[in-house]
Amino acid sequence: CGIVGYIGKRNSQEILLEGLKKLEYRGYDSAGVAVYTADGLQIKKAKGRIANLESKLDETPLNGSVGIGHTRWATHGKPSDVNSHPHTDNSLKFSVVHNGIIENYITLKEELIAKGHVFVSETDTEVISHLIASLYEGDILKAVQKAVKHMTGAFALGVLTEFEPDRLVAVRQASPLIIGIGEGENFIGSDIPAILQYTRNVFILNDGEMALLTRDAVELMTLEGNFISREMFHVDWDIVTAEKAGFDHFMLKEIYDQPKAYRDTMGSRISADGKSVTLNELTITLEAIRNISRVHIVACGTAFHAGMVGKYVIEKMARIPVETDVASEYRYRSPIITKDTLVIVVSQSGETADTLAALREAKRCGAHVLAITNVVGSSVAREANDIITTWAGPEIAVASTKAYTSQLIAFYLLGLHLAQTLGTQTPEEIAEVITAMKELPAQVSEILEQAEALKVVAEEMAKHDNLFFIGRGLDYAVALEGSLKLKEISYIHSEAYAAGELKHGTLALIEDDIPVIALATQHELLEKTVSNIKEVKARGANVLGIAVEGETELQKSVDSTFIIPKTLDVLTPALSVIPLQLLSYYASLARGNDVDKPRNLAKSVTVE
Ligand code: G6P
Repeated sequence: CGIVGYIGKRNSQEILLEGLKKLEYRGYDSAGVAVYTADGLQIKKAKGRIANLESKLDETPLNGSVGIGHTRWATHGKPSDVNSHPHTDNSLKFSVVHNGIIENYITLKEELIAKGHVFVSETDTEVISHLIASLYEGDILKAVQKAVKHMTGAFALGVLTEFEPDRLVAVRQASPLIIGIGEGENFIGSDIPAILQYTRNVFILNDGEMALLTRDAVELMTLEGNFISREMFHVDWDIVTAEKAGFDHFMLKEIYDQPKAYRDTMGSRISADGKSVTLNELTITLEAIRNISRVHIVACGTAFHAGMVGKYVIEKMARIPVETDVASEYRYRSPIITKDTLVIVVSQSGETADTLAALREAKRCGAHVLAITNVVGSSVAREANDIITTWAGPEIAVASTKAYTSQLIAFYLLGLHLAQTLGTQTPEEIAEVITAMKELPAQVSEILEQAEALKVVAEEMAKHDNLFFIGRGLDYAVALEGSLKLKEISYIHSEAYAAGELKHGTLALIEDDIPVIALATQHELLEKTVSNIKEVKARGANVLGIAVEGETELQKSVDSTFIIPKTLDVLTPALSVIPLQLLSYYASLARGNDVDKPRNLAKSVTVE
């Protein structure tokens, strides 16, 4: 989502619209503005692209010099006018725009309903405006400070009240927000592009900080109200760089977004005590879960590769047989689907034609369809019986990175949920997985810190025309994704092979100096993989091993090693794929390709 806010002397509607257009790449299922006008605080919002909001505002403009705006990427509640921001309360005197997720919004909503508040939307944000209104005693700053004490989760906020038209309040808690400084005018933005055409001087808020903006001043403080001073940051990026948050490409930005995407996707689905998983969003009954006789996982491209990891995860944790299939095959092979089949479709965009057709076929045959998707309100999300949303945020680069890893997290959550229901894992085993999952975001960051080393390896790889990925078990599933990533953006031909299968034909292709990336992260399979590594080494291959910290045996058999932090075997894909994403990125760069828009490919394929 994107936030923009303005307090100054100019027509705020125009500034908000311009800012929103610059944020449209971050999500665009609906947009809205609230402006303080001669008739008080007025809100206009529209489903769809910002152009829809613009035409509404062209018909009936909102005149005023203070306002907030928002472009939405739905998380709670489908895209619709009513779920769009800004939100207000029953008095219509308060207005809020919000990015992030309020984890305890259901509890807060129930408390407010008990006090007589009436809600019109399904969003967590509407709860914030009611909460602030209920705590207001003549000072908006204090009301917001009190409100945030009740809220848990991630939030960046812009808040206005009609009672104090010369003040704009901004809050940052685990969701980015910046303050732009002008002359006689000030701005807020969720990202630099929102305000870059008006000012290059910004304060970057840290988590747990807030700001009070008037036309002539900005005061920064902690959420408790202690004032802070901060150096102004001068932005010298152009607008295109700013959209990528300073990274050279969207793909790289999205690779670095992953720790946050992991945290957001786990979010409140993991209990505070770390012992259980709650997928409140699922409607499938416990009885129906107990009756599942088989699971089909159906998807395309990278999402299919996430599904291959999903198969291992569900079979291991829930002991239900799982088949995986690419969607374009599934629908035409008359798959055996019964009422007791759970069909899981995986799709970042939720709009892939093949996946949608598979979903419809599964429904027609009476299966319960669960979608794992990144886009709330997408076709897949609308038509499935159940949805687990991945909270990766908009993915722009054609090569999928953070959507894939968020899909893995969704599969872990689902596997644990099924295991809890079926009793196929002990509470101790479940807690062990959850504890390790909570470590993943920090472990991804550790890997990202070693990006430079991978760049050197990738530049060498880019000189070759063929290479191989090998692995066993979950490593094989990740090898497939690593190989696809490399092909998509570097155009280097590569093959991913189940390490044990190599000798049954493909070994003939191994010749002197050919690069082989060997994933060897699965403890129990390590010895077997090492034997396969020896087979390729004996034929002249140059092997890069991807290994888990502490596994020194492997390092003796390979030419070089990239070490990932230690986690449970079942969770390694969420770490081992990161170096492969970076290798592909740097190989593509070394070959001078258009990383974000590879030839012949589209982000979302809506034709068969
Ligand atoms: C396209 C993209 C792939 C993606 C696939 C499935 O082919 O280029 O990166 O994996 O579609 O997309 P979906 O949105 O369904 O996950």
